[in-house]
Amino acid sequence: MCGIVGYLGHRPALDVVLQGLRRLEYRGYDSAGVALLNGSGSLAVERSAGALSNLEQRLSTGDRERFGGTGGMGHTRWATHGAPTDRNAHPHRDASGRVAVVHNGIIENFAALRAELESDGVELGSDTDSEIVAHLVARAYSEGRTAGDLPATLGEVASRLSGAFTLVVTHADEPDLIVAARRSSPLVVGVGEEETFVASDVAAFIEHTRDAVELGQDQVVAIGRGHYRVTDFAGTEVAVKPFTVDWDLSAAEKGGHDYFMLKEIEEQPEALANTLRGHFSGGVVLDEQRLSEQDLRDVNKVFVVACGTAYHAGLLAKYAIEHWCRVPVEVELASEFRYRDPVLGRDTLVVAISQSGETADTLEAVRHARTQHARVLAISNTNGSQIPRESDAVLYTHAGPEIGVAATKTFLAQIAASYLVGLALAQARGTKYPDEIEHDFGELEAMPEAVRSTLSVVEQTRGLAERLCSAKAVLFLGRHVGYPVALEGALKLKELAYMHAEGFAAGELKHGPIALIENDLPVVVTMPSLKGHPQLHAKLVSNIREIQARGAHTVVITEEGDDAVRPFADELIEVPVVPTLLQPLVTTVPLQVLAAEVARNRGFDVDKPRNLAKSVTVE
Ligand code: F6R
Repeated sequence: MCGIVGYLGHRPALDVVLQGLRRLEYRGYDSAGVALLNGSGSLAVERSAGALSNLEQRLSTGDRERFGGTGGMGHTRWATHGAPTDRNAHPHRDASGRVAVVHNGIIENFAALRAELESDGVELGSDTDSEIVAHLVARAYSEGRTAGDLPATLGEVASRLSGAFTLVVTHADEPDLIVAARRSSPLVVGVGEEETFVASDVAAFIEHTRDAVELGQDQVVAIGRGHYRVTDFAGTEVAVKPFTVDWDLSAAEKGGHDYFMLKEIEEQPEALANTLRGHFSGGVVLDEQRLSEQDLRDVNKVFVVACGTAYHAGLLAKYAIEHWCRVPVEVELASEFRYRDPVLGRDTLVVAISQSGETADTLEAVRHARTQHARVLAISNTNGSQIPRESDAVLYTHAGPEIGVAATKTFLAQIAASYLVGLALAQARGTKYPDEIEHDFGELEAMPEAVRSTLSVVEQTRGLAERLCSAKAVLFLGRHVGYPVALEGALKLKELAYMHAEGFAAGELKHGPIALIENDLPVVVTMPSLKGHPQLHAKLVSNIREIQARGAHTVVITEEGDDAVRPFADELIEVPVVPTLLQPLVTTVPLQVLAAEVARNRGFDVDKPRNLAKSVTVE
């Protein structure tokens, strides 16, 4: 996830592009860069690691003349391939410096294309998957079928790429043209008087125009000053559907929502798809793999260390890894781990889960594990952060930046990533046949769609939140994978709505917590699958009857068509039917919405809960 802006018009392009990037900085803040078509037949490019302000600082001290001109583009990066450094910042250029490219997404076949370019004598100047596009465009523009035709060139190059991408390309030979292509990553065109914009999000141009067109899958757009033309990758013109943006600027940044967290909840299908993308090629592949197959085969014990929501992802990983790999897994709060002298050795795999990659407790747990010679695999959403840097292997979640302090899309991505680790371990240890691994990966790949259909519960959950917002406390119950989901539901409600909330394993109810049940106390129950776990389902139905008999107000989250629990649910939220281990990916969604909406109803800032920070760098 990165932010992209392109502009061709009558205003100073640098100002328009920088303003657009400011509005898109929520999409990434690892580095930023601009390329300007300055009218003198060349491209002016400046890039800088870090926040957009670093780039602005560089531009303010440099030769501003070079950046004059009324056409150009910019990029704000959320690193995926390659660390967040100057050399990996976009725009990337070909060897002549006449072609510049900005990219959002992941190009899966970049290794093969990179090898092809290198065998042609091209020297690459970055570690990104994006730079290859500049070289491919330069080559296809200068020779062959698409020579001299920039839109056709981009279509040709885009059709060779697999993965997800938005690409915007400028060529110094074409000062009155900017071209862009889209597959899976977002791209919107804004059309004004004698000026046209392309951007990842309407927020980048809403102050200039509200007339927009969303580019479809596998389409190329060529923009001029106040006009545009859309084709498919083969160059055939396609019809488009213009629309008018009716959000104000602050809502536009949040995709039309009142707060970022809801936007991020809605981005979960994309976060999952991006996290899984490219991780199956004849078998499961991890990212920066500095552990050998033998190392994975030798693992005889797994510890998962993490904090808060990431710890809940770890609890879920235990169900999957033990089931698939037949290896014992302990899940430990990172803050406790190193102080109790855990038994670690070369055959121990420590999986450290941290979206920020900077959490002090988790980092110290990693350091402790390494001093004890354990192997460490990090799961993180932040490329190049400290925990991945100090680990033996890394699996990145590609959820994009999360602005809301409460983790949502990174949580779902962490679950998917830790399941990938489970499949990679099962593969190395031979506890699953290759066709079973392919089948399980296929089930994971179907989850973005299941989560997308789960989003239809948002409205219903809003109504529920209104009814629950004045409750004194809320309890959450679950069994099996529903138990970590209950803990996560309670944590979200505590941190956002400042309400007393507790999650329990439903089987523990009779061992104490049932004493808390009183008239009208809301109890949210996540049901196991009726078909997948009929016995567990029956037990949970009994638990619900017990609490209902004692006056609880039961809110039941269950799969569509579960009529067995319906009579005992005061409120019923139905989610799609999915395999048992994958249920948390759908059942968590209404709990996230519930917490956010209860908080909003109580008048709190959903994105910035009191006393909390997005990355906790002190122990
Ligand atoms: C809760 C939440 C926190 C984090 C925890 C770990 O919504 O966001 O509980 O999960 O602070 O953070 P990371 O994953 O950055 O290590």
